[in-house]
Amino acid sequence: MLSNLRNRNLTARIRQPVDELWDRYLGIRTFGHHPGSGSPGDREWYMHYIPSSYRDVFAVLDRTGIGADDIVTDVGCGLGRVVFAASYRGAARVDGIDLIPSLVEAAKSNLSSSRLKHRDIRFHARNALDHDLGETTLLYLFHPFGPEILGEVIEKARNDRRSAGIRRALRIAYVNPVGEAVLNEAGWLRPVGHMPPRNEWVSNALHYRTAFWESTDT
Ligand SMILES: C[S@@+](CC[C@H](N)C(=O)[O-])C[C@H]1O[C@@H](n2cnc3c(N)ncnc32)[C@H](O)[C@@H]1O
Repeated sequence: MLSNLRNRNLTARIRQPVDELWDRYLGIRTFGHHPGSGSPGDREWYMHYIPSSYRDVFAVLDRTGIGADDIVTDVGCGLGRVVFAASYRGAARVDGIDLIPSLVEAAKSNLSSSRLKHRDIRFHARNALDHDLGETTLLYLFHPFGPEILGEVIEKARNDRRSAGIRRALRIAYVNPVGEAVLNEAGWLRPVGHMPPRNEWVSNALHYRTAFWESTDT
């Protein structure tokens, strides 16, 4: 199914040439689309897969000050573009989790072909609600689900951190922050700014505002 998706994504690959070059350089294939499920207002509103442009991903990661002591989790990783970009930027470990098993299988196959295959990169086919976020120092979200699940995942991150006795701060980057009120009202996160969307003249990729938070419970 995914090879069909990739073939159909020829237009995107032509119209987003810089992203195509990054994919080739990293030895991966991250263009694709997978439908979401549910609708705004549903608890289980799960977004479709579509990757962000590499330029936007790198800008977001750089703004967080990503470094060699970071454990990054991309919640809703799809084919892994953000995961590989975070590893390329030098994170110690990067976890990608996604609800859709076929996307995660393709992400794992990307790992085996990638020039980053010897880095600590882990993909997991699971719901974000079932993933232990205790060790995560940088949580990356590109609008993966609606506000209710977001609130549950954020609360779980807090509990996982407490159970593991983690004292390091957690940073959160949230692209297209549809549920940002949930983070602002969580009571243990402080907003630390945002980045406006920036258009790219060589690309037809969509661009979004990104908002950032840091934990205050350390
Ligand atoms: C907009 S895509 C983000 C892709 C990637 N993070 C990026 O920035 O290029 C959102 C992804 O979230 C995944 N997703 C939605 N609900 C999820 C959940 N409850 N647990 C894990 N992944 C989920 C979808 O399957 C989809 O691949």
